[in-house]
Amino acid sequence: MATITLSAIKADVGGYVGHADTHPRVRDAVVSTLEEQETFLEDYHVTSAGDDLQLILTHRRGSDDERIHELAWTAFEAGAAVAGELGLYGAGQDLVSEAFSGNVRGLGPGAAELTFTERPSDPVVVFAMDKTEPGAFNLPMYRIFADPFNTPGLVIDPGMQAGFSFEVWDVEADRTITLSVPEDTYKLLALIGSTARYVIKRVYPREGNDNETADPVAAVSTERLVDVAGEYVGKDDPVAVVRAQAGLPAIGEVLEPFTKPHLVDGWMRGSHIGPVMPVALSDSQTSRFDGPPRCIAAGFQVTDGELIGPNDLFDDVAFDGAREQANEQADYLRRQGPFEPHRLPEADLEYTTLPDVMDALTDDWEPIETTPQPSDSAPSPPIE
Ligand code: F6R
Ligand code: MG
Ligand code: MG
Repeated sequence: MATITLSAIKADVGGYVGHADTHPRVRDAVVSTLEEQETFLEDYHVTSAGDDLQLILTHRRGSDDERIHELAWTAFEAGAAVAGELGLYGAGQDLVSEAFSGNVRGLGPGAAELTFTERPSDPVVVFAMDKTEPGAFNLPMYRIFADPFNTPGLVIDPGMQAGFSFEVWDVEADRTITLSVPEDTYKLLALIGSTARYVIKRVYPREGNDNETADPVAAVSTERLVDVAGEYVGKDDPVAVVRAQAGLPAIGEVLEPFTKPHLVDGWMRGSHIGPVMPVALSDSQTSRFDGPPRCIAAGFQVTDGELIGPNDLFDDVAFDGAREQANEQADYLRRQGPFEPHRLPEADLEYTTLPDVMDALTDDWEPIETTPQPSDSAPSPPIE
């Protein structure tokens, strides 16, 4: 089998209404562009999560390919033009750079790409989250590939006994480290528990696993809009791709972390902690308090480059309990209004509009007058 690349590239090019959803005409414009220019694609599918569109592209050109990224950029530009005509909110929001140059990474959109030799059958899940940031995938990725309480395959399938390697990016210092589980488990957790700074970029099967692939098995978009725009223009709303089955975690093991909604940064104004709610594709609009943060899961069989799907994997009553739990968590957190920890600490709001509010108060601050303490006055005479 030839090598195939699956590129999941996302952008918010305009919200309908506010930051809640995408508009069908914007999606149509994006799809038409792909249709017209698809000559070097094997297949494509366009989906959405909240106000973000995801282009799922298969091709033979490898990861980070200029023509593929240019195609994605052109398609998003066509969507942004329609969003502009319709007066949608934040039209062109994530197309931060003026023009395309080489690679969408660093220009605004986010990309998760996997290049692999197709197995006889290659089931893949494309996840997309809205109203949160790339580190929101740290916990589920850890559970899928490192936690035997989530993934019994780690214990009972010889395909996974050697464990997995995690490529972690420090998005503040622009450096990367690879840690292998099980032996580096605690070191890995020491990093990826800091979700804003250390982000799982890719996961690889380790040598010694008796399975059908040595290629990367998961990838997450790690682009930070604030690095491109220099100011807050929305959360990064990440996309992730995970391959499954036959010596890799089963589809059910890949989805299982989402039965326990975890808390992430994002939600209203990118400034609040909230639970990640797993939802069907048709339930991805984020209207309650601009959220709560959502995750969709589009399943595909990648067959000779063709995307057989999507299977809407969270459209299962078995996730109703998680959704209910997420709603309860949301109610509980909302009671706290503008107080931490529902609202993020001031240091994490550096790139939002809060510093402007603080700046406006600068001249109103006055020093606190303290009563002089004995230690502040003249030193006591020495004891004879
Ligand atoms: C969250 C998000 C929204 C907006 C909010 C205010 O990532 O995008 O919650 O921050 O709707 O938007 P503006 O300031 O554009 O009115
Ligand atoms: Mg938006
Ligand atoms: Mg969004």
